[in-house]
Amino acid sequence: MNIRPITPAIGAQVDGVHLGEAARNPDTFAQIRTALLKHKVLFFRGQDITRAEHVAFATCFGPLEDHPVVGSDPEHPGLVRIYRSDSKHSYENTYHCDGLWRPAPAMGAVLRCIECPEIGGDTIWVNMVQAHEELPEEIKQKIANLRAKASIEHSFGAVMTPEARRKLGQDHPPQEHPVVRTHPETGEKVLYVGSFTTHFANYSTPDNVRHGIDKTPGAALLLNYLLSRATIPEYQVRWSWQPGDVVVWDNRSTQHYALNDYWPAPRKMERAGIVGDVPY
Ligand code: SIN
Repeated sequence: MNIRPITPAIGAQVDGVHLGEAARNPDTFAQIRTALLKHKVLFFRGQDITRAEHVAFATCFGPLEDHPVVGSDPEHPGLVRIYRSDSKHSYENTYHCDGLWRPAPAMGAVLRCIECPEIGGDTIWVNMVQAHEELPEEIKQKIANLRAKASIEHSFGAVMTPEARRKLGQDHPPQEHPVVRTHPETGEKVLYVGSFTTHFANYSTPDNVRHGIDKTPGAALLLNYLLSRATIPEYQVRWSWQPGDVVVWDNRSTQHYALNDYWPAPRKMERAGIVGDVPY
């Protein structure tokens, strides 16, 4: 197996491994898992694998999860079909980590490209550990104990009828997570707000807020500042897909953004999302 970093910040291309084989070989899988913790995103070109092998490989990391809005392959529960062919609309062109609206957001994902445009449809991943590390010291102190709400209703629900949106919100009520989480395996601090984040839950304290104007614009400005850190190119890697590519990411320490620049060309991806744990 050959592991070659792609940028100084994040991502490595892995050659010389078949992921169907890796799922059956604990030593090979252990090497991949170690590399994932180090590089945060791993890129595998030209993987000739079946859906069953895709699921088997992803399941080595843990159980898989379906999505309440985006359907899964009928024969492979947990294999979510992100197919874009009949509409320009996309949900993925925001900086996000998957499932921040869940009580336990995904640990990671294994995404396979079935079909992609010749040009466009790239995906960007961001190192959110570095995004936290390079914050000014006073901001780090200010956000150390902050918590934020995340919801699916204002994102996936936004294009639904009011009734359907409210039902989605009732079935998946907003969740509260730390603004800075600790990676459960590496101990790294991660900046943990993304496009599912709606507002801070505990910004308004006597120390922080003396007048209403300190609260509403103050909190919004701080949140927008934190959200903007994911857009810094030095923290990013950008992948130009080919059919057969597979990308594995650690969803606890990264965010991603799938570019929506290819309409009307079709783009078909299948994602095995791995169940995560409650962030702390
Ligand atoms: C996702 O946002 O999980 C999918 C990314 C992609 O389609 O490139």
